[in-house]
Amino acid sequence: MAIVSTEKLAITGGSPSRSKPWPQWPVWDETEERALLEVLRSGQWWSVGGAKVPEFEAAFAALHDAEYATCVTNGTAALEVALRALRIGHGDEVIVPPYTFVATASSVLAVGAIPIFADIDADSLNIDPARIEEAITPRTKAIIPVHIAGGPADLDGICAIAAQHGLKVIEDAAQAHLAEWNDTRVGAIGDLGTFSFQASKNLNCGEGGIVITNNEEWAERVWSVHNVGRPRSGRWYEHSILGGNFRMTEWQAAILIAQLARLGDQTERRTANAAVLTNLMRQIPGISVADVDPRITRHAYHLFMFRYNPHEFGGKSRDEFIDAVNSEGVPCGSGYVPLYREALFERIQAGDDSRIDYRSFADRCPVCEAACKETVWLFQTQLLGPESDMADIAGAVAKIRSAWV
Ligand SMILES: Cc1ncc(COP(=O)(O)O)c(C=O)c1O
Repeated sequence: MAIVSTEKLAITGGSPSRSKPWPQWPVWDETEERALLEVLRSGQWWSVGGAKVPEFEAAFAALHDAEYATCVTNGTAALEVALRALRIGHGDEVIVPPYTFVATASSVLAVGAIPIFADIDADSLNIDPARIEEAITPRTKAIIPVHIAGGPADLDGICAIAAQHGLKVIEDAAQAHLAEWNDTRVGAIGDLGTFSFQASKNLNCGEGGIVITNNEEWAERVWSVHNVGRPRSGRWYEHSILGGNFRMTEWQAAILIAQLARLGDQTERRTANAAVLTNLMRQIPGISVADVDPRITRHAYHLFMFRYNPHEFGGKSRDEFIDAVNSEGVPCGSGYVPLYREALFERIQAGDDSRIDYRSFADRCPVCEAACKETVWLFQTQLLGPESDMADIAGAVAKIRSAWV
């Protein structure tokens, strides 16, 4: 890789180091067209009595080492359905990481329970089992580890703590399709697992989600909650538990069946490119890419994350760096802020339940605080192209460094 350049940066009027387009997303062809037409002409547009949703559920479950799966409207709903199925509700506490999308915690609030944040591990940016124990109280009912960026959280540690304290584990695998922990696909290693099929995700139908499990009792409750509380073998107007309408349509499942056929190859391509990119980025002073835990036998690389050290880049801030990289034609972003800092939680604190001072989590989550200031994200679509794209990414970063140092 030619990593030394004295060219003028695009952000100061030079030419961008990359002008070619990145791989198109979503990927689709006549297979999706045919599948949608088939649903259209069949008149079977919803899942009740349909064949597409059950076909996709069976295929997705089999691919994720799970016996049962229920499709739902999106990944946020999947979390809410999972929590309701596990009977988690008013006053219960659920331990979540602060480095995640809002849904991991807002779903807990949606069922009337209280999210409690436990800090993350500095390398994986996933919830740190060592910090879970100290967050447990007599009200704690569950842990929601997130497999952030597609890298599984430490499920050995988390499941051991859960077993010891009688807690449920809901894996938020929204970003982790096909990811593996110790050679087992994620999602059904805990009690329940949820995935998202929203537009940016590695498996996409615009909006969609699924809940998977190996536990028959939970599977029945998930099915019932997602179908307005109906028992599976009951009357149409029989509602035995509180649920909602979280049903996926046949359109979504038709697209997902077609997309699923591509997922394996795409995942391999991302993995191969991520290895190349890791190696190239590590050659640039001031950029660090964490080692992947060897128990992660497959990382889904929904995101490629690295840390930026401003002292190695002439003191320029992480946000200035991100602007410069974007100007070079390489999309990247700063990602999450610590979730407990969102205004949403100030309101919770001011509401009826004033027990939790969410601002206090800033002191309890120093690893998350630092990660949110230093981390830079690249996106899964950038890992879908040829290996030479990885050199373009690293080349842009190296160009910026040589202009600033
Ligand atoms: C970690 C995580 N959990 C939950 C969700 C929610 O999924 P959806 O957007 O399908 O509602 C997302 C989606 O961005 C996510 O990244």
